[in-house]
Amino acid sequence: MDTILLKDIAKHDGKEVTIRGWVYGKRSSGSIIFLQIRDGYGFIQAVASKELGKDFDELSKVTIESSVSVTGVVKKDDRSEGGHELSVTSAKVLCLSPDDYPIAKKRDGSEHGATYLFDHRHLWLRDKRQWAIIRIRDKIITAIYEFLHKEDFIKLDSPILTPNACEGTTTLFEVPYTPAWDDGAKDGPSVFLTQSGQLYLEAAIMAHSRVFDFGPVFRAEKSKTRRHLTEFWMMDAEAAFFDHKKNMQLQQDLTVYIVKKVLSECKKELSILGRDISKLEASTKGDYPIITHKEAVAMLAKLGSDIKERDDLGADDETILTKQYDRPIFVEKYPKEVKAFYMKEDPEDSSRVLNADMLAPEGYGEVIGGSEREDDYDKLVAQIKREGLDMSEFQWYLDLRKYGSVPHSGFGIGLERYVRWICGINHIRETIPFPRMIKRITP
Ligand code: 4AD
Ligand code: MG
Repeated sequence: MDTILLKDIAKHDGKEVTIRGWVYGKRSSGSIIFLQIRDGYGFIQAVASKELGKDFDELSKVTIESSVSVTGVVKKDDRSEGGHELSVTSAKVLCLSPDDYPIAKKRDGSEHGATYLFDHRHLWLRDKRQWAIIRIRDKIITAIYEFLHKEDFIKLDSPILTPNACEGTTTLFEVPYTPAWDDGAKDGPSVFLTQSGQLYLEAAIMAHSRVFDFGPVFRAEKSKTRRHLTEFWMMDAEAAFFDHKKNMQLQQDLTVYIVKKVLSECKKELSILGRDISKLEASTKGDYPIITHKEAVAMLAKLGSDIKERDDLGADDETILTKQYDRPIFVEKYPKEVKAFYMKEDPEDSSRVLNADMLAPEGYGEVIGGSEREDDYDKLVAQIKREGLDMSEFQWYLDLRKYGSVPHSGFGIGLERYVRWICGINHIRETIPFPRMIKRITP
């Protein structure tokens, strides 16, 4: 008997097959048992009748979240989930769960508080909505790799343990670097978990021209918001001979590619989430507006924000602003003092930088941060000093402006922010399998 995955069920219409999975729902009418089964790829109802004998008795004991192997004949049935039903010919219970599954049937959080659900994240991941989110996350990751390889980028891994700050010193996680076995050692070096691999990619483009990394980054964010994790996944891309404009064009093309792919390959997941697809469609059309920070501040003032001329945009500002648009926007040329040390000075206004944040529509706000990089040795030295960073830690980085410096740009996608937008989710913590936040490091 063929053991199949439910994604392929339609190919087996009328045939007898075996599926293996978990029971997420059960109804019984005495002589018939209806089991809702999922196998990680899809969902199906299996119908077993009393004539089965011993196997029927076994199935009648089945509890929620027991694992089973079920053989049956596939029947097309438009009313049932997945469009097919399985008429059971034999069945085996693989692990009978105790009858106290901790998460109630309506597993969308409506019967449990968020704390309870995240305490049971190891089980809650089985919930249909959570399943859909993680699959869309995977699709976005796949799309990023596909697009960047198509654009001649190669994946180049940057280190996780780093001696310096890429994005400012306030959110660094320091790790003890003296190995446990070395009792004698006193003062090990200062080592931090990476905030972004960008600086290393800037070194690598001088060898490979276009590179990207994709890995976990860490920020000790004090803010308890719906947009901040302490461990999240970032894709940094960096390209030689890309200026600020070309950098934004690349981000737009990448986003168009990702959204198109999710819309065409994750229809089921988006419908489980109840995502309004029409709200994503404009983002596949390109033409993302570019507005300057100065223009954004003026708009925000009209919209009722108390933002000042040289302030960074706050989360609320980004929300109000992006509700005005049906697709992502770029906000460019922020004041120097609110951005990182490595950004290139705007030749038209030395108090600003050639950066852009890409803000997602519908109030989601910043999902990408990017800029052209300062490629002038002396200006970079001045900026490292201005930020009060330790010059000795950045000697290697300054070397890059000495030996064959070229204009270059790059950007970083916050994967979970991106997933949050595409899935239409309120809180970022549902977009990663096991979230890490200031107050949560378990399970
Ligand atoms: O804007 P950020 O800080 O930019 C950088 O780190 C650059 N070095 C990237 C680069 O140019 N290669 O972070 C990039 C993105 C943000 O736009 C946001 O989407 C996300 O990372 N992000 C977070 N996501 C979740 N939790 C946090 N605490 C985040 N902080 C930033
Ligand atoms: Mg940013």
